[in-house]
Amino acid sequence: MSGIPHDHYEPKTNGEKWLHSRLPIVGLLYDTIMIPTPKNLNWMWIWGIVLTFCLALQIVTGIVLAMHYTPQVDMAFASIEHIMRNVNGGHFIRYLHMNGASLFFVAVYLHIFRGLYYGSYKAPREITWIIGMLIYLAMMGTAFMGYVLPWGQMSFWGATVITGLFGAIPFIGESIQTWLLGGPAVGNATLNRFFSLHYLLPFVIAALVALHIWAFHTTGNNNPTGVDVRRSSKAEADKDTVSFWPYFVIKDLFALAVILVVFFAIVGFMPNYLGHPDNYIEANPLVTPAHIVPEWYFLPFYAILRAFTADVWVVMFASWITGGIVDAKFFGVLAMFGAIAVMALAPWLDTSSVRSGRYRPMFKWWFWLLAIDFVVLMWVGAMPAEPPYSTISLIASAYWFAYFLVILPLLGVIEKPEAQPATIEDDFDAHYGKAETPAE
Ligand code: HEM
Repeated sequence: MSGIPHDHYEPKTNGEKWLHSRLPIVGLLYDTIMIPTPKNLNWMWIWGIVLTFCLALQIVTGIVLAMHYTPQVDMAFASIEHIMRNVNGGHFIRYLHMNGASLFFVAVYLHIFRGLYYGSYKAPREITWIIGMLIYLAMMGTAFMGYVLPWGQMSFWGATVITGLFGAIPFIGESIQTWLLGGPAVGNATLNRFFSLHYLLPFVIAALVALHIWAFHTTGNNNPTGVDVRRSSKAEADKDTVSFWPYFVIKDLFALAVILVVFFAIVGFMPNYLGHPDNYIEANPLVTPAHIVPEWYFLPFYAILRAFTADVWVVMFASWITGGIVDAKFFGVLAMFGAIAVMALAPWLDTSSVRSGRYRPMFKWWFWLLAIDFVVLMWVGAMPAEPPYSTISLIASAYWFAYFLVILPLLGVIEKPEAQPATIEDDFDAHYGKAETPAE
């Protein structure tokens, strides 16, 4: 696919020409910021900017926190208290970092579901999608390790439970678990390596984001109609697009400002709302908390992990067919990672020739059911693993897999899509009216 035709950077002064012939970085920035962008993008296209902001916020606040934090089991908890009480602005920086992680996940989930609704994962944006999934995995790893650092009760027991999952892998599980922990149990070696990796991973994410942006700049953005920008000439493309600067920069910054009002209200007035009170108790390997619950953003996948108990027939079948190698615990781990894997495969599982959910009458219903399913999974993930929650978890987990593995492939065959607009310009004009041609 050829790129969308547009003006390129032309160095004018001698200084600009000098630099451009040696390092065309201004040209690269110009092409990035002036990229033609479909003019019908709606408010669901703001999350990428919010995510970029979150990444920057987490890196900046994290670097300051690291200046005062001590990754040593006898001092970690106290060093956090020191940040909260003695360091100038320390409590504010910590609360920004804690709640920044939550905003990051709110944005990423909305960004992912936007992509699922408008078919942004479909050709030719498969690589953007896969890189997005890698970013998401890296975000989960980073958040998990970050939560261990304050060395509270939830830090310690969360790390114990989650690393214990690796122990469920047949034959090599125990070795992997020991290798991850740096010893037989969560301890000083674990804290040290988690701190090191928690500092490193955001920079890996930043590199992945650069690839992500490069990928969707190569294909061009998707848009709410899913219809491609016309590319036969610049004049045609100009009718479907406007340049990213200044139009979308201003729109995105406005949206970011509104979101930050809510964000700062939470940071200022209820900074611990999303946290767990047990994490203000120092880690104690001898006292297990009554309920070990992960952070809210892990709950849907935690629910899937716990849903497949030994009395579920697929688990019994898997155990029987593998001669007991796959037990309920290992099955749960496979289901949890499988839930993300099936989402990553969406570009190949969705067989519909129509990209946007807007013109797919049947798809819409199943999609919204998936969105509700996700919220239900989040809710049951926080509940004790007993009836009726265990049954609800099982049904909700089954739907998650059914959506990607059965419904998406089938819908493409049985659904009769509605008519799509011929061009992005038509869609835009239908919403905002056709612009008057200015008098010559
Ligand atoms: C740090 C995390 C991420 C950042 C900073 C980021 C950034 C962006 C930006 C700036 C865009 C342009 C359009 C928009 O603003 O929506 C975009 C598009 C896209 N993102 Fe992400 N993203 C991230 C994570 C993800 C994840 C986890 C996925 C899901 C797998 C994903 C999938 C996509 C897709 C498919 C598009 C192209 C769709 C389009 O333009 O309509 N992204 N991303």
